[in-house]
Amino acid sequence: EKEPVTVLVTGAAGQIGYAIVPMIARGAMLGPDQPVILHMLDIEPAAESLNGVKMELIDAAFPLLRGVVATTDVQEACKGVNIAVMVGGFPRKEGMERKDVMSKNVSIYKAQASALEKNAAADVKVLVVANPANTNALILKEFAPSIPEKNITCLTRLDHNRALGQISEKLNVHVGDVKNVIIWGNHSSTQYPDVNHATVTTSGGEKPVRELVANDQWLNTEFITTVQQRGAAIIKARKLSSALSAASSACDHIRDWVLGTPKGSWVSMGVYSDGSYGIQWSIVQGLKIDEFSRGKLDATAQELIEEKSLAHSCLN
Ligand code: NAI
Repeated sequence: EKEPVTVLVTGAAGQIGYAIVPMIARGAMLGPDQPVILHMLDIEPAAESLNGVKMELIDAAFPLLRGVVATTDVQEACKGVNIAVMVGGFPRKEGMERKDVMSKNVSIYKAQASALEKNAAADVKVLVVANPANTNALILKEFAPSIPEKNITCLTRLDHNRALGQISEKLNVHVGDVKNVIIWGNHSSTQYPDVNHATVTTSGGEKPVRELVANDQWLNTEFITTVQQRGAAIIKARKLSSALSAASSACDHIRDWVLGTPKGSWVSMGVYSDGSYGIQWSIVQGLKIDEFSRGKLDATAQELIEEKSLAHSCLN
């Protein structure tokens, strides 16, 4: 039998936490034959609720679950962790400036970076979910210099999956037959969901999405804004932000990172880019970028550069 893998979930008493821990314990993240130990971290005001989640995990009697630690001590939470899913963070509240939210989260990610660096496995794989996800991941990287930068990523897979979902609805095909969309840039409304290389497996072979949709107008406008603003649409409908889809996509992100994607298909992850190939993941090279895409890429890159300097100014 395989040795258990230790998975940390921060913010585990929150919405996404509550949705993701049973998925991990059932093998949706690391496979149906991989035992896991769950470490769950939250803050003091949520301690009792976090303990309730632990009680439910015990009650669910998951055969793959070999241990549960529920704690408010970040050092204890990070001990021996192989996979870290960083969901905990300070939410934007009404009337709060962007800079105030940034400042709170940058401090949290700075402190948790140090705790991971000190206590986690040397080859820990980190996925940042909490917003601003790209910038939190950047800060984590800067304050955990001994963790390989290729091991620090953020979640854009939810946006990727949302794009697959929209194409599947539009063409009335199974979502599993749609592949190779790309999410460029920030996990925000400037992100650019790109279908220029996406395909659908049909009875007549693989066909480009652009050919099947045959409506560039829809692909260049409504499709893009629907994916960009899907998070806001979920909040409007549920009065709460996406949780089950975020949790499921976080499992997809780690699963494909650890186990790989099928030949000929790729997925979207927020990564620290040096433009070259790596061992565990690699950046798909050589894609043709048209003028429309170029403009969108530049806009979201510009936003990320601004977030980076805002984050750094919060630390000074
Ligand atoms: P939530 O508010 O229900 O849960 C957050 C949890 O984090 C709370 O239990 C809170 O006590 C905890 N927390 C706060 N500070 C902490 C700290 N320093 N250490 C550990 N835990 C801490 O929020 P929800 O809905 O679960 O979302 C979590 C985050 O994920 C938010 O930042 C949200 O914006 C983001 N998100 C990102 C998505 C993505 O695609 N990248 C999609 C959906 C949400």
